[in-house]
Formats: sequence, C-alpha cells, structure tokens
Amino acid sequence: MDKLEIEGGIRLKGEVSISGAKNAALPIMVASILASGESTVDRVPELVDVKTMGKLLGHLGADFRYSSGKAVIGTDRINNHVAPYELVKTMRASVLVLGPLLARRGSAKVSLPGGCAIGARPINLHLMGLKKMGAAIELDRGYVTARSDGLKGAVIYFDIPTVTGTENLLMAASLARGVTVLENAAREPEVVDLANALNSMGARISGAGESVIEIEGVDALRPLKYKIIPDRVETATFMIVAGTTGGEVLIRECRPEHNDALITKLEEAGLTIERGEDRIRVIGPDRPVARDIKTMPYPGFPTDMQAQFMALMSTAQGTSVIRETIFENRFMHVAELKRMGADIDIEGGVATVRGVPSLKGADVMATDLRASASLIVAGLAAQGKTTIHRLYHLDRGYERIEKKLEGLGASVRRMQKDA
Ligand code: EPU
Repeated sequence: MDKLEIEGGIRLKGEVSISGAKNAALPIMVASILASGESTVDRVPELVDVKTMGKLLGHLGADFRYSSGKAVIGTDRINNHVAPYELVKTMRASVLVLGPLLARRGSAKVSLPGGCAIGARPINLHLMGLKKMGAAIELDRGYVTARSDGLKGAVIYFDIPTVTGTENLLMAASLARGVTVLENAAREPEVVDLANALNSMGARISGAGESVIEIEGVDALRPLKYKIIPDRVETATFMIVAGTTGGEVLIRECRPEHNDALITKLEEAGLTIERGEDRIRVIGPDRPVARDIKTMPYPGFPTDMQAQFMALMSTAQGTSVIRETIFENRFMHVAELKRMGADIDIEGGVATVRGVPSLKGADVMATDLRASASLIVAGLAAQGKTTIHRLYHLDRGYERIEKKLEGLGASVRRMQKDA
C-alpha cells in the first residue's frame, strides 16, 4: 500500500485546476445503461472509484473505455443484471445500478453494501421508492433482488434526503410509465448534474435542486454526451489547504456557488476569498479563528468537508464545536489528528476542537477518503514530517493530488509500498 510523506510548514502558492466531480461522474456513468448505443462522458476524473465503476459496467455487459478524462460506454449488450459482492464492497456507489437495471431489463440483483468506516449507511429508502413504483424486492443471502414487469410512476417521500437514493429513483423513474414525484429529495449539485444528464438523453425531469422533483417517464432514452461538473469537495479541500498554510492559491475551473456554506465559514475564520465566475482566490491568515459548524444536507455544510475543516480548526485561535449529523461514525480522523498534537474531545456526534498554536508531524493512518484529505491538510500545516499510511482511500476520490500540491510548492512524496 502506498504512503505519502509530507514536509509541513510551507506556505502554498500558485494555481490549481479542479477535476470533474467523482460523485457526479459515478451516477452519470451508470445512467448510460438506460439507453442502447454509445455514450460519451467528458471530464471524468481518473480515480480508483471510476475504474471500479468501469469494471462493474463491463461486468453487466457494457463496453467501457477510458482515456484522458473521457469515458466511452457502449451499452448495446447489457446482458447481466448482477452487481457482485466483490465490486459493491469496494465501492458503495455500485448500488446505483439498481434503479437503471430494473428500468431497462426488468430485474436487478445487487449485493447489499453493508456498513462502512463512516456509518451503517442502509439503502432502505432506495428500496422503499422502487417498491412504490411497483418493483418486487427480496433480500436473500446478502443480495437484494428487484423485479418488475414495468415500473410505474408514484409519489415517493424520503424520510431523510438521500443523495444516491434520489439518484437511483431519478434513473428508474425516467423510464417508468407515468409521473413520479420525489419529495424531500436530495438537492446536492451532483443530483442536479445527473438530472441534467438524463434530460440531455431525453428524460423529462423538473425541479432538480429543489426538495420536490417531478419526473415524467418516457419510452426510451438516447445515449449520453455529457461533461461532468467540477468537484466541489476537491475545490473546498484546496481552499482549506491554502487557509491552513497561510498561503495564496488561485483555484481554477470550479463552481464557487456550490461551496457557499463553506465559503461563509472560511471567511468568518479569517480567510480572504475572492470569487470569480469559475475561479476562487484564497489567501490564508497567519492563524485562523475558531468557528462552529454543523453538517447538513445541501445547501448546508457538507459532511464531506467536515474532516478537512476540523484539521483547519485544530490550529485556530479559540474553540470550535463541530456537529456531524449525517453519518454516525465520521470522526475516525480525530484519533489521528490527536497524534499530531490536536486537542479534540468527542461526545456522540459532537467534536470540541481547542485550537493549538501548531501541529507536529507524525505517522498517521488514513481511515476513509475524506479523513485522508484532513490528514493532508494537517500534515501541510504541521511542523516536520508527516507520513500518511493506507493511502488507497485517497486515490478513490482525489485525482493526482500530490502532483497538484507539488504545483503549489508543497513538499509531498508518494512512497510506492507501505513498509
Ligand atoms: N440513509 C438511510 N437510508 C437510505 C439511504 C440513506 O438511512 O436508504 C441515511 C444514511 O445512512 C445517512 C443519510 O441518510 O445517514 C444520508 O446518506 P446519503 O444516502 O445521502 O449518502 P450516500 O448517497 O450514500 C453520498 C455521497 C457521499 C456523501 C453523502 C452525503 C456518493 C457516491 N456518495 O452518499 O460521499 O458523503 O452522499 O452527502 O454520492 C464521499 O465522497 O467521500 C462520500 C462518502
């Protein structure tokens, strides 16, 4: 397993360009199986999760090719309806094939994802929605099997706004008979991007980005030709990297409006932020000021930025209270930040971070994707050398991150095998 060595304490300066959004690319690649023919998706980031999704699509019978950000997916021969345990266990987003397979082939068998490092993450709301649309659902030996002779429109209310649940249902409803209404739907920009992609295939979706989405089913969809939005979590991570090192970074090819909640908090914490149409300039303070956050569904503060924000708050002036309300176990980075000298207590879903003047480099272990990013933030700010072990989590979600950091003057080195 690779590890990353960071020599901290360098003010980062320069420009960085943002890659396509992982969490938009994955569902949009899956959407290709709703049509027959050759789909092309541009600005797909080169990530392990994208490779896994390519493997899964290949397993279902698609012809998947990927090169320099372009995914070409041939879907004339979708001849398998099983998403096996081996693929689902490495990437939960595999569950996104459930709705489209059911809509296109009338059956889908998908391994239940099970819990993961950040929480239990059930898929009961995905299944509830498909049942409402007339699917017969069975759970047996760790697999969910869904069957239908033709899905029909329904009114579906989500108890919790679920991102991939909303996406699964959007895709299933696009080929259903009649109108489907999703209430308390997720409003994340990635959901909107999927709805735009589906509409470009001939779907009739209105209201994406709001809590109520209406989908009028159509008989068939055209293959996809689409370009993914920039990754708002990568954008936000680079903003924090600039902030934590007291640096000055121009972030290009991003969508500032997707990070309003974070930008507000960062400004309050003392970062100077200049927004352009597709760029953000961030100037970090000598030392940030403590601010409280509470993670919420979009447009609230994103859970995917909680760990990185906590790393920033570790060296802030004052005490920051961080409430995680989306996932029940998303504080795995706390123990690692404490190894670097952070002063953090956790009680239930609340972390109290008392800022210290500086962190010290240490050996730390990445436990999940965003926790890895938070250790990078901490390592860049710390005095001395930090070694991040179990780097593979990072490669699931950040494209060429060490190259991008090097471009900003950071001292980072990937070591090929964990000793
Ligand atoms: N939930 C249920 N039942 C369901 C579905 C969700 O109880 O059927 C609960 C979850 O347990 C959680 C909450 O609802 O407490 C929200 O979960 P959601 O379904 O929205 O999460 P997700 O769709 O599994 C996506 C992203 C995550 C991101 C979350 C929240 C993708 C592929 N994944 O997950 O991204 O954290 O939304 O914004 O889009 C990441 O990129 O690092 C990542 C984990």
